[in-house]
Amino acid sequence: TGLTALDYGFVNTASTKSAITYIDGAQGILRYRGYPIEQIAEHSTFLETAWLLIYGELPSASELADFDDKIRRHTLLHEDLKKFFGALPHDAHPMSVLSAGVSALSTYYQGDLTSKDPEDIELATIRLLAKLPVMAAYAHKKSIGQAFLYPDNSLSFVDNFLKLNFGNMAEQYVPNPAVSRALERLLMLHEDHEQNASTSTVRLVGSTDANLFASVSAGIQALSGPLHGGANEAVLTMLAEIRDSGEGVARYVERVKNKEAGVKLMGFGHRVYKNYDPRAKLVKESAHEVLAALGVKDELLDIAMELEQIALEDDYFKSRRLYPNVDFYTGVIYKAMGFPTHMFTVLFAIGRLPGWIAHWREMNQDPQTKIGRPQQLYTGAPARDFPQR
Ligand code: CMC
Repeated sequence: TGLTALDYGFVNTASTKSAITYIDGAQGILRYRGYPIEQIAEHSTFLETAWLLIYGELPSASELADFDDKIRRHTLLHEDLKKFFGALPHDAHPMSVLSAGVSALSTYYQGDLTSKDPEDIELATIRLLAKLPVMAAYAHKKSIGQAFLYPDNSLSFVDNFLKLNFGNMAEQYVPNPAVSRALERLLMLHEDHEQNASTSTVRLVGSTDANLFASVSAGIQALSGPLHGGANEAVLTMLAEIRDSGEGVARYVERVKNKEAGVKLMGFGHRVYKNYDPRAKLVKESAHEVLAALGVKDELLDIAMELEQIALEDDYFKSRRLYPNVDFYTGVIYKAMGFPTHMFTVLFAIGRLPGWIAHWREMNQDPQTKIGRPQQLYTGAPARDFPQR
């Protein structure tokens, strides 16, 4: 057949070269453009890291101020988009609403559609970074039946987003600095993760020369699955089920080990990290900090810690090198911040957006890029004659 390899799930196949993110799964190392994730989480901001990923170097103070200013000036959505959101079912999952909204952006900004012009790509980049959080907040407000707010461009990226989600028209909204900082940190930890399923989707769609909005919209759908970004929602659902069933953590772990249908330890395991996920370590620290700062005591955090401990000592998980991943503790934090469970993966999407954009642009500029077109091994019927009738 001329085929060289069959590789389900691309376990052994590199689909591209990339200079954006480095991962060493055996050692638990993650670096954005060479900078260790631990240092980024401590010293950077979401927008500074977005610039780093997209443009390759840290911005100067004036470049960052200009970037921030441009994003603030593009937060408004076309008024008709409210009607678009209004037409969707009130109980639609916010990830579907978000993907539909991003897809709809290409109906408003048709000039960017197939253009390779760097200025058009730049504008599409700014528009997406500015508008995705606003659409995410719309999806949230819609799901709880509250009025949409207009962005407050005097606020930072993260505070504006918090206000759009938790503010209302009747009262002044003052973001809690502990929440702002924690959300900023979590968003930074999610910004890129090289060729994960959603980023590979963005690249595959983009390899056809489809525009940035179309590619990101597809990436959001890929992220929504429970084996990928949807795991953060699934973890919380799992923790709540363990609590409500009263079966106990050890019993749940037994069911996981017995491979009962549909029972997995969500938030555990990773295709690349086989010793630990460096993001999970940082998220766990944040979980304790945020709950302490908000004075929240959550039984689900206790269940998560007990689950982690039992799993880390158990041969089933040890022999398969399964450790908590980035999604294991994020849900507990988002819940303490006041986000409903169905918004968790949307927060992941906002975090991952700079990575998707950086990869789409890297691919777009690479002269070696070819349309993505995997092969297959045909297993169907041999050639046969169609019945004569
Ligand atoms: N719970 C129980 N068993 C597991 C789990 C888990 N979470 N993950 C893997 N295994 C078992 C799996 O059944 C297999 O066992 P066996 O060898 O007996 O058949 C072995 O470990 C190897 O697993 P795999 O499915 O071949 O591993 P993979 O690299 O294809 O899948 C994964 C990686 C992340 C999809 C998987 O670990 C998983 O489903 N985890 C739960 C979902 C999750 O937390 N996803 C978030 C990933 S990190 C952030 C992100 O991408 O969004």
